[in-house]
Amino acid sequence: MKTVIRRWDRRKDVDFFKAAELEAFKGTLNRSEDLTERQILEKFRKMDEEDPIDLSNPSHEVLIVDSRARPQIALIWLCSREPFWRFKSRLTWIYNLYVVPELRRHGIARMLLQEAEKWTRKEGLVTIALHVIEWNAPARHLYEAMGYELVHTHNESCFYEKKIG
Ligand SMILES: CC(C)(COP(=O)(O)OP(=O)(O)OC[C@H]1O[C@@H](n2cnc3c(N)ncnc32)[C@H](O)[C@@H]1OP(=O)(O)O)[C@@H](O)C(=O)NCCC(=O)NCCS
Repeated sequence: MKTVIRRWDRRKDVDFFKAAELEAFKGTLNRSEDLTERQILEKFRKMDEEDPIDLSNPSHEVLIVDSRARPQIALIWLCSREPFWRFKSRLTWIYNLYVVPELRRHGIARMLLQEAEKWTRKEGLVTIALHVIEWNAPARHLYEAMGYELVHTHNESCFYEKKIG
């Protein structure tokens, strides 16, 4: 499949970005099948309000994948972040990685993680890290296959890290 990776156009891509965020959020909910769509949306809005992230800050980078047949098939949201919690040096944080369901297992996430490594080098950083919920087996398999190491766990949260040369 012929694909192009580009920086996001906030105006044009915001709906796709939000939909991907909502999808990732749903994946972190325990027993989400017991909740209505409305309850999930309510929780999502609350989280957004409680912890707003200023995407206009240049430390953030959102990359979108388009295919020839279809725009907006995947994205990765990266941030160059100050040390926090148990992460003791500045690092690239992956806030989200998303591929539309119909096009999974075509190597698109793998390609975006390679792009994240290039971006990290350009930023002069050597560490990439992220959080994933314990039961997200596809994502955990992906990160482990890409050389990420499970460095911390906290309740149902798994924190992975990769050092790049
Ligand atoms: C996780 C996700 C991004 C993977 O995207 P993808 O494009 O399908 O992944 P790739 O095709 O690049 O897979 C690369 C490797 O990851 C692993 N992998 C990916 N999906 C997997 C699955 N469902 N089961 C087991 N391993 C999987 C495999 O090792 C795979 O290599 P292989 O296909 O040669 O066996 C995608 O499933 C997704 O968007 N999920 C919903 C959002 C999400 O959970 N994001 C992660 C938030 S931390």
